[in-house]
Amino acid sequence: MYRIDIMTLFPDTVGDVLSESILGRAQERDLLRIETHQIRDHTRNKQKQVDDYPYGGGRGAVLQADPLYQCWRHITDTFGKGRTIYLSPCGKPFDQEAARRLARDYAHLILVCGHYEGIDQRFIDGYVDEEISLGDFVLTGGEIAAMAVADAVCRLVPGVLSDPSCFENESHWDGLLEYPQYSRPEVWHEMAVPRELLSGNHSQVARWRRKQQLLRTRERRPDLYAKLDLSSQEDQKLLAELERELSRPPLPQPVECRPARQEDLDAMEIILTQAKALLIPIGQWSAHYPTREDFVSDMARGECYVLTCGGQVGGFFTLSAQPEACYAAITDGKWSSDQPYTVLHRCAIAQQWRGSGLADRMIRECGRLALAMGRRWLRADTHKQNKAMQNLLRRNGFQYRGNVLVDTTADRDPRRLAFEVRLANHPNAASTGEESL
Ligand SMILES: C[S@@+](CC[C@H](N)C(=O)[O-])C[C@H]1O[C@@H](n2cnc3c(N)ncnc32)[C@H](O)[C@@H]1O
Repeated sequence: MYRIDIMTLFPDTVGDVLSESILGRAQERDLLRIETHQIRDHTRNKQKQVDDYPYGGGRGAVLQADPLYQCWRHITDTFGKGRTIYLSPCGKPFDQEAARRLARDYAHLILVCGHYEGIDQRFIDGYVDEEISLGDFVLTGGEIAAMAVADAVCRLVPGVLSDPSCFENESHWDGLLEYPQYSRPEVWHEMAVPRELLSGNHSQVARWRRKQQLLRTRERRPDLYAKLDLSSQEDQKLLAELERELSRPPLPQPVECRPARQEDLDAMEIILTQAKALLIPIGQWSAHYPTREDFVSDMARGECYVLTCGGQVGGFFTLSAQPEACYAAITDGKWSSDQPYTVLHRCAIAQQWRGSGLADRMIRECGRLALAMGRRWLRADTHKQNKAMQNLLRRNGFQYRGNVLVDTTADRDPRRLAFEVRLANHPNAASTGEESL
């Protein structure tokens, strides 16, 4: 059992706080014992006076050495000699490493809380093993510091938390600050949970979390960041990604989605040219597909949409409620349902907004529009080499269902990977087994 004795002038306050919640339950389970001791009970004068004026003059009073010693002797005679720590602004700043050391190297701590102007140096010289400070500020007494040290140490005692991973992933464990945490609901006050956390893909979640840890630590604690070893290939990749993301200008607001109009065609054509530079080499698109004329016919059918950022067209897509003939002949797998679906076709994001989250917004808009059409299923296909699209679909809940062949008469590779997602209109539906967009 791990034991902590706290010497204080305010034993009730300290005891109450440390017997709550996790530490209280750990004491009930005999993993810990935290006891407080009234220093005043160990005076040898009738008035129970524990302080006196400082030699050499000056304001305030000093906690005398003898009551402290008598209290300390009572503890060590009864429970054995523990590691004696004086909480003091003159001590070494407390950190997670110190908490880990105290939990690992000792089974008994005696925490001494000072008050007034401090405590007689002779008690420190004779009986204190180390001095710990809570930080570079001055508190009225050592109680808050003692509670902080006791709490941080006790939660590292084996068995106090249900699983070591509870603290191993936390801030300061491995020199990093923790990643941001989110809980239900998925959208709150119009702020959405990052898509990566909803993907259900563990390695993607772990990657996102590591990236956020690096970013936070770099921004908030350059002192900690400077000590990190980031030489692994994975960290180097994440850092390069961060650099790219941070050097990108923020997406102009508002971001909106609306049916495409005739006057958008020129801007759409510029984005089309940028996308073709990527998709012609892999064979997904060709010089003759898609074209401005395709957009015009999509518009005529009311299937063509644009995403605007600060009023400028930043992307486009076609969303069709017409069944896609080639989808019926899916191979190497099958669709989950033969209910009516919508299909995402011909989409692209302007080069300067790639990686800005606009593509994820596009997918969310498709889901919203599909539901408004009364469709519960959204399908899409993409080329095997179009990894960006596959990642986009997967992180937005799409699942790979099999292979299809699009227009085999055209001058491009007809082989496509087919994906689908079941749409849920309630933002919390993901946890009930349904994907949500
Ligand atoms: C008002 S303080 C005394 C400060 C002292 N005169 C000085 O300037 O260093 C009274 C008591 O609060 C506690 N205390 C104050 N600041 C602390 C800190 N940053 N960390 C730990 N304990 C602190 C110590 O136990 C100290 O004896």
